[in-house]
Amino acid sequence: MADLKDKVAVVTGGSSGIGRAIALRFAKDGAHAVIVGRREEALREAAAEDEKISYVAGDITKNETVAAVMAHVRDKYGRLDILVNNAGWCPVKPITEMTIADYDSAFELDVRALVNMTIHALPLIRSSRGNIINLSSVGSTHRAKNLSMYQGAKAAVDNFTRVWALELASDGVRVNAIAPGAISTNIWNVPGLSAEEAKKHQDGIAAGIPFGYFGTPEDIANMAAFLVSDEARYVSGGIFAVDGAMGAV
Ligand SMILES: NC(=O)c1ccc[n+]([C@@H]2O[C@H](COP(=O)([O-])OP(=O)(O)OC[C@H]3O[C@@H](n4cnc5c(N)ncnc54)[C@H](OP(=O)(O)O)[C@@H]3O)[C@@H](O)[C@H]2O)c1
Repeated sequence: MADLKDKVAVVTGGSSGIGRAIALRFAKDGAHAVIVGRREEALREAAAEDEKISYVAGDITKNETVAAVMAHVRDKYGRLDILVNNAGWCPVKPITEMTIADYDSAFELDVRALVNMTIHALPLIRSSRGNIINLSSVGSTHRAKNLSMYQGAKAAVDNFTRVWALELASDGVRVNAIAPGAISTNIWNVPGLSAEEAKKHQDGIAAGIPFGYFGTPEDIANMAAFLVSDEARYVSGGIFAVDGAMGAV
């Protein structure tokens, strides 16, 4: 358990899945967590789980949402110790079907929003000698068809992570990424499948994981809690796999 008492964290995409689990874990460990997403009802439900969680509803690709998050943090807490750039995903299709609008939507969320949020959070993160965690993916190093936008974007996330770790080392700011494998969240729900087809689809994916089963959002939250703890004080610039050995293949 990390001692996060009186720390303040922003977790983008905290309305479901991995971001929600990270926010809940940070709150359990004593931090105040601000979650961000487009679905206000889902944010409200997540925030109801712990009184130390608050939320800002909005699309993180929009400059005004980033500004609203930082205004909320300054007004409500006056400090920021942890930024988790978690919101992400993109269209799944081969290059033969890709449009430049698909590319824009992928890179606006997975890369531009992550950079924009970091730029705006950095003054407070530097003041607190805090932590940044970016959500990468096993896909940044292990290629699969139809995922070039996602895997290209996550490869960029890896290198932003490493270079920021170098640039911010002298400020005492640590920057790391977590590279999940297959974690059981909404992103694995293929629209339009029957329950039987969905199970078959998920079983097929699980069969390709060396552990033979999906991880949970809490598995990722455990790694996030370690990375922001004092036990990780000498850890920066790393891309940490949490993937049931998928990345070892
Ligand atoms: N699950 C996996 O197997 C896996 C594997 C590798 C990497 N990852 C990475 O882990 C991260 C979290 O994914 P997840 O699996 O937890 O998926 P998820 O349950 O679908 O969560 C995605 C979160 O991002 C938010 N989000 C999406 N677009 C947004 C936008 N434009 N503005 C604000 N928030 C936005 C969503 O909130 P709203 O819908 O409310 O906007 C949601 O809270 C992503 O970066 C993903 O690439 C996941």
